Amino acid sequence: MTKRDKPIIAIDGPSGAGKSTISQRVAIALDFVFLDTGAMYRCVGLRAMRKGIDPQDETAMRKVLKGLTIDFVRDATGHQRVRCNNEDVTAAIREYPISQAASKASGVPVVRKKLVALQRKMGGLGGVVIEGRDIGTNVFPDAEVKVFLTASAEERAKRRQEQLAATGKTVSYDTILAGQHERDKRDMERPLNPLTQAKDATVVDSSAMTADQVVARIVSLAREV
Ligand code: DC
Repeated sequence: MTKRDKPIIAIDGPSGAGKSTISQRVAIALDFVFLDTGAMYRCVGLRAMRKGIDPQDETAMRKVLKGLTIDFVRDATGHQRVRCNNEDVTAAIREYPISQAASKASGVPVVRKKLVALQRKMGGLGGVVIEGRDIGTNVFPDAEVKVFLTASAEERAKRRQEQLAATGKTVSYDTILAGQHERDKRDMERPLNPLTQAKDATVVDSSAMTADQVVARIVSLAREV
């Protein structure tokens, strides 16, 4: 028995494990809202870069957070778009340097405090698939379904390269693997809400699974509750 009418499905895991694609598809299958918390850290990283602010400078980051608004909207094709202060930043936040800026910004206490509060407000009623790094451990430790979605480092880098190639960007596999390693390390070693697996999470290793299989597995976990 859950205290919410509809459950919260928390999907955590390292970058490149396929969380966004999978979470979006699970949300569509269940007719739930999809909340991409990584996109929120990316909005903050993008704003910092544009203002020429070091994303790790806590005092300066207060300026970046001031007046920040983030909205998720579905376009006519059902895909989710990210709006930051009324500007569509869906493509801009996926740029390679923004990934690094977002990772750096995400270790800053004032940034996490603001975004975690926003996430609790946006997802607290349930009926939501929410993906990130600390959802099952920190944002919603009482989530009804917790999944830790992972894949081997090589598979994740390969997928990221294909994703970038699909948008016309050529980045070498070695550069992606090195950048991913740097981000994984920073995400797992930061003192505040690091990426860790919740004790009660179900681990799904997608290295040798198709997206359809992963979606089906998570939908069946959701139907059990
Ligand atoms: O999932 P992503 O690659 O879009 O996330 C971008 C960065 O944000 C990533 O380096 C880790 C950080 N992040 C976080 O610290 N906590 C979350 N809940 C989600 C993302």
